[in-house]
Amino acid sequence: MKNTPSTAELLQKVQALVRPERLAHILRVAELAREIARNNGLDGEKAYLAGLLHDAARDLPEAELRRLAPPENPVEEAHPLSLHGRAARALAREWGVADEAVLEAIEGHVYGVDPSNGLGMALYIADISEPGRGVNGEIRELALAGRLAEAYRKAVRNKVEYLTAKGVPVHPKTLAVYHSLNAP
Ligand SMILES: [Fe+2]
Repeated sequence: MKNTPSTAELLQKVQALVRPERLAHILRVAELAREIARNNGLDGEKAYLAGLLHDAARDLPEAELRRLAPPENPVEEAHPLSLHGRAARALAREWGVADEAVLEAIEGHVYGVDPSNGLGMALYIADISEPGRGVNGEIRELALAGRLAEAYRKAVRNKVEYLTAKGVPVHPKTLAVYHSLNAP
């Protein structure tokens, strides 16, 4: 059993794998995820950790992504870059992160998490709405106002409707989350 690594150690590991502008995004996401988590009665430090790790694999070569997270369905096969969530989860595990909710949040920032995972929802919203993106301000404000579930439902619905309108196949996990959020 590995010792739990410190946040500073993890930051160093992430820093070694990503471009500087990616690191800036990662730090903005981590801070926003912490704030969203706290405002919704969740563990802010865990949300920060998930934010710090979520894009650790985002700048890796495709071959490395496929090694860390072999594609599991046609959508993943068609979009190998989208493997970076599960690949980051694999890296986080290698680095000694064992908290299942944090690992789920990291993986789920690409395709979505079950609505039972508050940390995952906080990270998902932080990623799509951090100020550097310049979009989704309304969803960010909802989440910061303590209305995380509502913000998440909106975010997932927007994504599914956007992809569907463009005729792009939606990942099965995203569809499952969408249907669970919109079940009567
Ligand atoms: Fe990402």
